[in-house]
Amino acid sequence: MTRLDTQTKPLFTSERLAFRAFSQSDFDALKSLHQHPDVAVSTFTGFSDDVRVLEELNEYIEEYSRLGISQLYVSEKTTGHFVGRMGLQHRVWNPEREERDYELRFAIHPDFWSKGYATEGSRAVLQYGFEELRLPKIVMAHFDDNTKSEVIAQKLGFKRTCDFTVKGRVIIGYEQLNPLV
Ligand SMILES: CC(C)(COP(=O)(O)OP(=O)(O)OC[C@H]1O[C@@H](n2cnc3c(N)ncnc32)[C@H](O)[C@@H]1OP(=O)(O)O)[C@@H](O)C(=O)NCCC(=O)NCCS
Repeated sequence: MTRLDTQTKPLFTSERLAFRAFSQSDFDALKSLHQHPDVAVSTFTGFSDDVRVLEELNEYIEEYSRLGISQLYVSEKTTGHFVGRMGLQHRVWNPEREERDYELRFAIHPDFWSKGYATEGSRAVLQYGFEELRLPKIVMAHFDDNTKSEVIAQKLGFKRTCDFTVKGRVIIGYEQLNPLV
């Protein structure tokens, strides 16, 4: 697990998934995710047109090169199929506070829903963040009607810390402290 393992080798793996940095050649994969209506309805960014998908891809690449983590390209280990993005982003996640935190964010392509991938992958991301990056705290948030993310937050041991509203939609916020530091 090093920051040098970027484009070809996974940064880390879980039982069924591999996680690597995004590269410019991943535009079509990210577009298939961010332009899927069933995904866009539940993400904070919503539907992304092609220009926005490219901006998002470049944000992930730039953040990874600066911090050694960002949204990561997630694939099945056995088939190599792209299943979604998952990772940590250092950003102002709650507009009522101006602090940046490392936020766990994920989106799985609907073709791969209900296989436990978001739960399994989130556990691996948390482990990487706490054990390898030694982050003191990781936060998470979801729209209040996103029951699946709520279940995942509970299973991962997140503590609910705040509610806030963005563009008229209520968001539930959580945090988890690093037990190792
Ligand atoms: C939310 C999302 C990541 C879940 O991905 P996934 O890989 O299908 O999730 P998992 O298979 O790990 O399942 C999560 C849990 O939700 C449960 N669940 C599934 N559908 C549910 C429903 N309609 N109501 C309640 N719980 C539900 C599952 O049963 C599972 O819990 P379990 O393992 O105890 O059975 C995926 O649906 C997605 O990408 N949605 C669009 C984008 C999004 O919402 N991203 C998160 C923003 S915070």
